[in-house]
Amino acid sequence: MGAELSRGCVRGGRIVCPLHGWEYGHDGTCTHIPCAREIPALARQQAFPVEVRCGHVFFFNRAEVGFPMPFFDGVSVGELLAARPFEFTVAAPWYLVGANGFDVQHFRSAHDRTLVGEPVVDSRSPFSMRLTARFRVSGRAFRDALTRVLSGSEVQMTVENWCGNLVLVTAVFRRTTTYGLVSLQPLGDGSTRVHDIVWIKRRPGLLGSVFDPMDAAIRRLFIREFVRADVESSAGIRYDPTRMTAADKTLVEYLEWLQNIHRQTAPSL
Ligand SMILES: [Fe+2]
Repeated sequence: MGAELSRGCVRGGRIVCPLHGWEYGHDGTCTHIPCAREIPALARQQAFPVEVRCGHVFFFNRAEVGFPMPFFDGVSVGELLAARPFEFTVAAPWYLVGANGFDVQHFRSAHDRTLVGEPVVDSRSPFSMRLTARFRVSGRAFRDALTRVLSGSEVQMTVENWCGNLVLVTAVFRRTTTYGLVSLQPLGDGSTRVHDIVWIKRRPGLLGSVFDPMDAAIRRLFIREFVRADVESSAGIRYDPTRMTAADKTLVEYLEWLQNIHRQTAPSL
């Protein structure tokens, strides 16, 4: 009847529906119905391959895994500490929210980051597209001034987008590196829920156990403020390929790539 299994419980490796107590195994088949001896064929859930990273559950949105769970280049999960995740909703479709990282123009106007040199677009896999660009922290706000003092006045930003809904962002300043893992969930009404986990590299020893949690919490605050500009400025946006200019080159490239991979890999569910 559509009861939420997330409100149920797990018993003996099976998920139990909170409403009628039907039990489902890890492959989605029903193994027990309290009020019936026979299990009808309709009693079945969709099952997804999952992976757990730092207590967060990620699932592959197909019956079979198409590629290994992506992570930040050059670091392992054990080297990083995750801050408490935060979420927000953007009144724009998921594919345009994901396109934000490839919209080089908006970094200057929405985030006070001035592009230095030319952005580079490449890809580590047919399912991913990556933009690497260097920016000057040019804003006059207190937060920007503090960023310049604590981290540095220039940042090399890498935005790696996997299939449009998982984005790995790395911001390398002279003194600090911050990692952001962003996942996008279409809400069905044309808007998108954005879930963001900020990670920092752990420091060794006592220094790390004392300062790391505080450092991660502060950077989470900074990044939440940083992306607030996206929530406000992206509300109601739409894509019209006939209205793009040369400055939108990477944005157009990204949307064309995304359209292509979704055409090639139609859902198998
Ligand atoms: Fe942005």
